Amino acid sequence: MLANTVLALSLLPVSFAHFTLDWPKARGSAENTAGDFPCGGYADVQQQRTDFPISGAPLQLNLGHEQTNIAVYMAVGDNPGSGFSVVMRPQFQVQGLGDFCIGQISVPSGVNVSDGTKASIQVVSNAHANGGLYQCTDVTLRSASLSTSDYDSHCKNGTNIEISQQNISGNPNGTSTEDHSPSGSAGAATPSPTPGAASHVKAASWAMGFIGVAGLALL
Ligand SMILES: *[C@@H]1O[C@H](CO)[C@@H](O)[C@H](O)[C@H]1NC(C)=O
Ligand SMILES: *[C@@H]1O[C@H](CO)[C@@H](O)[C@H](O)[C@H]1NC(C)=O
Ligand SMILES: *[C@@H]1O[C@H](CO)[C@@H](O)[C@H](O)[C@H]1NC(C)=O
Ligand SMILES: *[C@@H]1O[C@H](CO)[C@@H](O)[C@H](O)[C@H]1NC(C)=O
Repeated sequence: MLANTVLALSLLPVSFAHFTLDWPKARGSAENTAGDFPCGGYADVQQQRTDFPISGAPLQLNLGHEQTNIAVYMAVGDNPGSGFSVVMRPQFQVQGLGDFCIGQISVPSGVNVSDGTKASIQVVSNAHANGGLYQCTDVTLRSASLSTSDYDSHCKNGTNIEISQQNISGNPNGTSTEDHSPSGSAGAATPSPTPGAASHVKAASWAMGFIGVAGLALL
């Protein structure tokens, strides 16, 4: 039974890969360059920028891994290259697949921007092995905020997708899912009803490595 479970789990992540930034519209995404820093291989700034409120707006993502570490960075300027030095959202961890909205991403106070300042936003996630995955969007910062309906139309969460850990130190591209701290994995796991089940969960988790304990919760 355990072998079947492991087989079923091993098929899960293959059909879903990587993540996409769906709003603001990303520069682009390509499977084979998604792991290239910066911006998943898309070096050119977009002609069509999205207006982005300084006071905060959602980022709409679609996640293809069962467990994802994410952080959001900003670079100020018309064509800032790889200078994503402003942390808009420190690293956190999400459990679940599909639509995920990071609510209220704002320009941190103390960063010198005003209505009309051009900037680029980079979302970084961890990859299966080492390194990260990158998506960028180019924005014009605005002092006006989004209407409730605009906000809501760019902020959707799939079912059973949730933040499992906040304020993790470091960058996601230095976090492989294989070397999460034991406390992180344990915190994400549903308590097991019996000691027997717990040891199966442990064994399968160890065997599967990168899928981790969270993948078992699906079954
Ligand atoms: C990892 O991400 C950080 C923050 O965006 C960046 O400064 C660094 O260059 C990245 N490292 C690699 C190897 O891409
Ligand atoms: C989706 O979940 C994120 C993270 O918990 C939250 O910031 C956002 O407001 C949620 N959006 C909706 C529409 O529920
Ligand atoms: C903020 O940016 C504006 C426009 O680029 C510049 O004129 C001003 O000197 C900057 N202020 C500070 C405190 O850096
Ligand atoms: C994360 O850290 C920031 C800054 O220290 C703090 O304001 C915030 O409340 C923390 N969030 C959580 C969920 O711990």
